[in-house]
Amino acid sequence: MNIQTISTQPFTDQKPGTSGLRKQVTAFQKPHYLENFVQSIFDSLEEVQGQTLVLGGDGRYYNRQAIQIILKIAAANGVKRVKVGHQGILSTPATSCVIRKYHTLGGIVLSASHNPGGPEGDFGIKYNISNGGPAPEKVTEAIYSRSKQIDRYLILEAPDVDLDRLGESQLGDMTVEVIDSVADYAQLMESLFDFERIQQFLTSGEFHLCVDAMHAVTGPYAQAILEQRLGAAAGSVINGQPLEDFGGGHPDPNLVYAHELVEILFGENPPDFGAASDGDGDRNMILGRNFFVTPSDSLAVLAANAKLVPGYKSGLSGVARSMPTSQAADRVAAQLGIECYETPTGWKFFGNLLDADKATLCGEESFGTGSNHVREKDGLWAVLFWLNILAVRQQSVEEIVREHWQTYGRNYYSRHDYEGVESDRANALMEELRASMPTLSGKQFGAYQVEYSDDFSYSDPVDGSISQNQGIRVGFTDGSRIVFRLSGTGTQGATLRVYLESYEPDAAKHNYDPQEALADLIKIADQVAQIRSYTGMAQPTIIT
Ligand code: G1P
Ligand code: ZN
Repeated sequence: MNIQTISTQPFTDQKPGTSGLRKQVTAFQKPHYLENFVQSIFDSLEEVQGQTLVLGGDGRYYNRQAIQIILKIAAANGVKRVKVGHQGILSTPATSCVIRKYHTLGGIVLSASHNPGGPEGDFGIKYNISNGGPAPEKVTEAIYSRSKQIDRYLILEAPDVDLDRLGESQLGDMTVEVIDSVADYAQLMESLFDFERIQQFLTSGEFHLCVDAMHAVTGPYAQAILEQRLGAAAGSVINGQPLEDFGGGHPDPNLVYAHELVEILFGENPPDFGAASDGDGDRNMILGRNFFVTPSDSLAVLAANAKLVPGYKSGLSGVARSMPTSQAADRVAAQLGIECYETPTGWKFFGNLLDADKATLCGEESFGTGSNHVREKDGLWAVLFWLNILAVRQQSVEEIVREHWQTYGRNYYSRHDYEGVESDRANALMEELRASMPTLSGKQFGAYQVEYSDDFSYSDPVDGSISQNQGIRVGFTDGSRIVFRLSGTGTQGATLRVYLESYEPDAAKHNYDPQEALADLIKIADQVAQIRSYTGMAQPTIIT
């Protein structure tokens, strides 16, 4: 066995963001860049000798090359076994599932999620711990500080592993096991949902669905589960083949980027249900006929209907949402008499709550929903959850959401993103906003009076850790909110996210377009943060 020790120099920019280390592919292709980061992961883990890891990615450009490099570094560091997805494919939720099922030390996910792929696109790497969830901040901090000091990495000199053939092979002393990417995950889904009922529903001939996999990782999972197992008509899954550049698209399931699906669901003679997922399969967008379900509402609807689903029929221990997510789920939790936790943006903050059984369902406004079945958000799981509810209630998506609003009131919600802002200007905007906070309280803007403004700080109820500066909130006396934060996942410049929310209890007023209902708050956001002047943009680049 030929283990090489390669001397290297640290890179200063390997700080993991909201969800792992994300950079342009060209950054990862720099000599030693990926190797340094992977060795930093191994160096900061207590013990990798003799352990098992899971490895896979969303199939984007550089996935296969990165897997070969990581396998050789793992072998050189004494890892005993790596379970790697067939053809290098493992969705983020499937990785989490496999880590948990086989009690492995952790896993490495290769993805830049919803960012575009290809030689000019983005790549990413994320470490997940033994509970199947993203490494918490103390682990990512340790990896980062190691990356700033690293002076060598270990790598095995060996031929590449055949990722196209299922089964075991040896890489030095390490066993590489190429696993079916879908099987373990599909089994888990079958244990949660009423597959028989969903199958009857999908084969009745009266219900049609269209799931857009956006040429990303969800294709093989959706085809195997929805079409082959549950009997949805062939072709129900569109863009099902994972491609290295996602077919040139932007694999982000929202109304802008999933326009092909949107045109189908809002076109002539649309199917009853539509869904899309992102690059690595953890996000979801849910559509009905001519109807968009806001992710925050989706979480609330799942929580309110959880008892209809076998895996959740004994009730929820609690729910959790990220701070900028609308408060629709809070209303459901209040009625169920359970806790609703408010966490910073990023799925890693849900891990402790799920492990401690304080929350069963979690969600983010950014098209993420999930539960304690894994420790990641899960796009296809959300689709199956919706299908299970639809099969039981025999109502349309729109009817279910409208009834929900009637019961709980409607939280009008929208997020405005200003992408590609020069970092200095974005930081200056946030600083100025932070400085103005003490003077905001009590201020009147038209009909709205500021009740509070703060920089969100989270104290984890399980381990007591504190995360500060997680977004500036401006709350009004009628319960409306505006939240400002900078994205932690972008790779170029800065993205300012402005989250807007108002509450309408009166069912007679539930028919407005959210941009209309939120028009005053949108103006106030600009007044408070001087968005136009700082960004130089008259409009957000994307509205969801
Ligand atoms: C974004 C979303 C956040 C999500 C993350 C990873 O992070 O806003 O909710 O957890 O992607 O999918 P951001 O770019 O806002 O830091
Ligand atoms: Zn994702």
